[in-house]
Amino acid sequence: MEGEMKLFTREELKSRSTRADAVLIIHNEVYDVTKFLLEHPGGEEVLLEKAGQDASEPFEDVSHSSDARSLMKKYKIGELVESDRVQTRAGFSPQWTNEQAQEQGNWSSWLTPLLLGVAATLLYRYLFV
Ligand code: HEM
Repeated sequence: MEGEMKLFTREELKSRSTRADAVLIIHNEVYDVTKFLLEHPGGEEVLLEKAGQDASEPFEDVSHSSDARSLMKKYKIGELVESDRVQTRAGFSPQWTNEQAQEQGNWSSWLTPLLLGVAATLLYRYLFV
């Protein structure tokens, strides 16, 4: 069954958290795991606990195999609408800018006192020695 991809909001998925209708949000993608509950090697309980919610973190915490990751595709029913997406480990481009900005900040934050220290030392020696 090749269903077409739909866009969902986090709000509308919240109620889909039962054995009869269970969805998971993993890395901004939406999976209908209703038929997978009993097949999941990790058990249905962990899936039901996260059903209707974002399970990206617990999913990654288990470090699922590549087999598990390709199995997921079978259950994908759509994605989150643009405004409900979050940055996950899969796409980190905005963090790159942040980290770079932070790095630059750190760099100048120790460089300035260092230069002041050197200048003070030279001035002291020039004036008093
Ligand atoms: C569509 C989503 C998921 C699929 C297709 C999936 C698939 C699998 C598969 C194939 C395994 C066997 C081990 C492996 O191949 O890595 C597994 C194990 C496991 N999964 Fe999932 N899983 C999904 C979501 C989740 C989520 C959301 C959680 C946690 C909330 C979870 C928790 C676990 C645990 C605890 C194990 C057992 C690990 C072990 O026995 O060492 N899984 N899963």
